Amino acid sequence: MTQYQENGYTKLEAFRANGYVVLDMYQGEIDPKEWLDVTYVDWKSSGETRFAPLASAYGDLECDGFWNHTPPKTDKDGVWVDSQVALAPTLVERAKEPGANIGRCRIIELLPNQYGETLYNFHRDDNNRLNPEGTGWIVRGFFNLTHNPDSVMVLRADKDDPSTETRIALPAGAQLIVDTQRLYHAVWHQGDAPRYCLITSWESGPELDAYIEKYHGVSYVESYPLTDEELAAGEALAQAKRDARAAALAARGQDPRFGDGTLRVLEEQMGGMDSMDSATGMETEQLSEA
Ligand SMILES: [Fe+2]
Repeated sequence: MTQYQENGYTKLEAFRANGYVVLDMYQGEIDPKEWLDVTYVDWKSSGETRFAPLASAYGDLECDGFWNHTPPKTDKDGVWVDSQVALAPTLVERAKEPGANIGRCRIIELLPNQYGETLYNFHRDDNNRLNPEGTGWIVRGFFNLTHNPDSVMVLRADKDDPSTETRIALPAGAQLIVDTQRLYHAVWHQGDAPRYCLITSWESGPELDAYIEKYHGVSYVESYPLTDEELAAGEALAQAKRDARAAALAARGQDPRFGDGTLRVLEEQMGGMDSMDSATGMETEQLSEA
């Protein structure tokens, strides 16, 4: 494994081709109390998702982007939330294992949804807002905690091009790391109970590189299979939801593209991704999905 520089940031070769890495399955046992007994906070979303912060910007029990604090900071140097760490020691240990700088670290609780809703939820994260050039690009680890073999992380390089899609199954112990600022992503969760997953922001660098190598990270996996009918139904549902949202926004006099996950409107307003750090108050990140 090696690293390379792109646009001033250190990135890992393992992500260069496809933007994600899948590691060996986790072999340990974790008491579900570690994710069931921690405190979840409501977040700006549909109500289908809750998060339990393990590390936050300044150690408080909240999930806001680190840049939305005073002083603002990039998604690094997360501060452990003591009350949560006490309840989830193994999860914290797993987040710390790579030895890479950790930003946000939280458990997501996601209720079942439909594939088409997942396509509608596609978005990119802005993990690297305020991240100084000359340092490591921030990527995110997803450790699935519950056994959801028919739920999938859906990734696309181009959100409007199904041929760029990868669907990674999420049985208990699945471990993936995704450049979520590069890839559109969302999770389709099939089942009748919530899915729980540990999400950690890590800085790319030699530590994360070595961790990926240790657990035999691969840069490509076969997609979870779907029939042509299932794929088409998903596209149709996503489009219906986009149309409904555009109509609702237009009725309120807002730009119908706002919130479509592409950051296009924001980029136009701010003059490009480099200026996003000043875009406070904008919902650039949907958190109802992964
Ligand atoms: Fe995300």
